[in-house]
Amino acid sequence: MKNKHPLKIKKNYFKKIKMFKKYNEAYYDKSNPLVSDSVFDILKREILDLEKKYEFLKSKDSPSISTGYKPSKYFKKVKHKTPMLSLSNAFDKIDLLNFEKKILNFLSLENNNIIEYSAEPKIDGISASLYYKNGKFIQGLSRGDGVEGEDITVNLNTISDIPKNLKGSNIPNEIDIRGEVFIKNSDFKKLSDKFANPRNAASGSLRQKNPEKTKEIPLKFIAYTFGFAKNFNVLKQSHFLEILKNWGFKVNKFNKLIKGIDNLIKNHSELEAKRKEIDFDIDGIVYKINNFDIQKRLGFVANAPRWAIAHKFSSDKSISEILNIEIQVGRTGALTPVAKIKPINIGGVLVSNATLHNEDEIQRKDIRIGDVVTVERAGDVIPRVISVDLKKRYKDLKKFVFPKKCPSCGASTIKEFNKTTKKFDAVRRCINNSYDCEKIAIEKIKHFVSKEALNIEGLGKKIVENFWELKLIRYPQDIFNLDYKKISELEGWGKLSVANLKYSIEQKKNITLSKFIYSIGIRHIGQENAKLISKTLKNAKDFFELGKNNNFDDLLNIDGIGDTQIKSIKEFFSQKKNMFVLEKLKASLNIINEKEISKNGILREKTFMFTGKLAGISRAEAKSLVEKNSGKIVSNVSQKLNFLITGIKPTSRKVNEAKILNIKIISQSEFLKMLDTKDS
Ligand code: IVH
Repeated sequence: MKNKHPLKIKKNYFKKIKMFKKYNEAYYDKSNPLVSDSVFDILKREILDLEKKYEFLKSKDSPSISTGYKPSKYFKKVKHKTPMLSLSNAFDKIDLLNFEKKILNFLSLENNNIIEYSAEPKIDGISASLYYKNGKFIQGLSRGDGVEGEDITVNLNTISDIPKNLKGSNIPNEIDIRGEVFIKNSDFKKLSDKFANPRNAASGSLRQKNPEKTKEIPLKFIAYTFGFAKNFNVLKQSHFLEILKNWGFKVNKFNKLIKGIDNLIKNHSELEAKRKEIDFDIDGIVYKINNFDIQKRLGFVANAPRWAIAHKFSSDKSISEILNIEIQVGRTGALTPVAKIKPINIGGVLVSNATLHNEDEIQRKDIRIGDVVTVERAGDVIPRVISVDLKKRYKDLKKFVFPKKCPSCGASTIKEFNKTTKKFDAVRRCINNSYDCEKIAIEKIKHFVSKEALNIEGLGKKIVENFWELKLIRYPQDIFNLDYKKISELEGWGKLSVANLKYSIEQKKNITLSKFIYSIGIRHIGQENAKLISKTLKNAKDFFELGKNNNFDDLLNIDGIGDTQIKSIKEFFSQKKNMFVLEKLKASLNIINEKEISKNGILREKTFMFTGKLAGISRAEAKSLVEKNSGKIVSNVSQKLNFLITGIKPTSRKVNEAKILNIKIISQSEFLKMLDTKDS
C-alpha cells in the first residue's frame, strides 16, 4: 500500500469517529440503532486498527476510551516493545540444583562457583507493563499473550501505587516498568462474594470497562522488573529495585539477596511459614540472577528466561473420593486417566477432576474407583491424585483395568520402547496418531487455535468441541471455511460474536513460520524446537519440501534437535493425512518467513564449527554468540565451512580434514577477536 499523507489519515479517522459517535448515541442513548451490530463492530475495529497503526491518532470519542455510553467491548491491543515472558517452575531442591547446574554449564563455570540471586516473593496477581516517557506515565498494558497486551491505561490510572510522574534522578527517556497488580486479602474480604479469590477480583477489576468501577476495588501495585528501556544503565537487579523505590514505586519488602541453594531453601521455608500472616497472596519466590550482564549472556529459552525460576510454595491438599476414572485421548494419542472426584474446595477453587497421569501410575498406586484419595493443587498446575487411603478401601473394590483399545477410535494402543532408558514408556498411546481418531483430531484442532499457536480469540476449547459435533470442522483448515450462516443461527451466537470470530480468524491468517510449525502439532516439536527449525530453514517452502525428497539433512545440524525429534518429523511427513492438511493450510495462510535476529551481524554469511574444549565459555554459549552475530553453526567439515575454531585438545581428524579443504583454522582467542572488531 502507498504511504498516505498524515492529514488524509486524520481526515479518514475523524470521519469514522464521527460516524461511530452517531451510531453509538443512537444505539445506547436512544435505543434506536442506525446500523446492524456487525457494521457497528467493524467500524469500531477499523478505528482501533487505525489507532494502533498511527500512534498520532487520538480522540476522546474513540471506542478505545471509556465514554459515557456503554464502552467498547474491546480494549485496544498493543504490541509489547519487549515480550512479557513467563517463568519456569521449581518445586524442590532437585529442581533448583538442576536450574543452577544448567546455568553454570552454560557459562562454563565450575560447580563451586557462587551465584547471587535476587529472591522476590511471587505475588499471585495480574502483571502489567507501564510505559513512561521522560518520567511521565503514558500507557499501561496487560500481559495478554506476552507479545500483545490490552491497553488498560484508564484503569491503571486509578491505582494510587502507580506514580503518574517519576520522582528523583537517573530517569531514562523511555522505560517499561513491569509489576503485579493485586488486591489485599483484607480488602478482598470486604467485597461481595462475586469473585472466587483475590486474583480473580483483581483481574475482574482491571478489565472493567468503566474506570469508575475499577476505582471501587482498591488495587495495589508492586514493581519488579523492566522491559524496553532507552538510555538506562544499571548493573544489578538489587540496584534496580532500589531505583524503583526512589522513583516512587512500591517494591516488595520481603525481597532479599541470597547466595547458594541451601540458603534459598531456608528463605523459602521461612517465607512459607509467614505466608498466612502476609496480607496478599504469594504463590512462591522468584529467583533472578542478580547480575544483569550474566542475565544477558544466559538469554532465553522459548518464552522463559534461563536466568530466573519461580520456586513454588507447597500446594493445598484435600481428601475426596474417586467417582469414576475416565480416559482422555490427547493430541499425540496419549491415553491419560482422569479421576472424576466428589467436588471439593481446595484453596478457594472447586475441584472435580484430578489427573492420574498414566497407566503405570494407576498400577503403582493401585488406584481404584471408589477409593478415598488425597488430591493436591499447586497454583496453576492441574490438580492431581497423590495418594490412596488404603484403610478406607471397601473390600469389594475392583482393580482398575486400563483399556487396551483407544476409547475414541477403537484402534490398538502401544507403549513405546525407549532405546536410551531401555524401558517401556509409562504412557499408552493410540496408534492412530492422526486425524483418523476423533479425539486426536479434536485435540489437534484445539492446539492449532490455542494461545501459543494461531491464538484465535473466541474459538476456545468448548467451541471447537461444539463445532466438531455440528460437523462444522474436521481439520485445522476448516477454520478458514466456516459456515458463518449456520453459526449465526446457533444458540449463543449473535451477529456481533460471529463478526468478531470472522475478524479474529481473518487476522490470524498471517503467521510466522515458527508459529506455523508449532501449530501443526508435530510430536516433540514445541515452541522452542519450532523456532530452531524455522531459523534454520528460513522459509516456508523449504519446510513444505522436507517431506518431498526426504530431505531432513538440514535439520541434523540444529543444536537442540536430536534423533527423537527427527524421527517424529519424518513420521509426520510420512502420513498422507498430514500432507493433505499441510497443502490446505498452505493455500489458506500467509506464512511469513522468520525475521533473522540480526541479519547484519559481524559474522553474517560465515559458517563456524568448534572442536575441542573451550576455555571459560561453554559450547552452548559459544554457539549462541555465533548466532547472535548472524553467523551459522555447521556440524561437519565440508566446503561449506569457513572457520574451524579449535579449543583444547581438538579432534585431529577434523583439523586434518579442514587442512585438506583449505579451511581457516583459528583459535578461540582469534574467534573472540572477530567479535571485538564490531565497530571497525
Ligand atoms: S519477573 C522474565 N518478578 O510471575 C521475568 N515476575 O510466571 C518474568 N511475578 O507474569 C517476570 N512476582 O506476573 C517477576 N518478582 C517478580 C514477580 C513476577 C510475580 C509474576 C508475573 C509473571 C509471572 C511469571
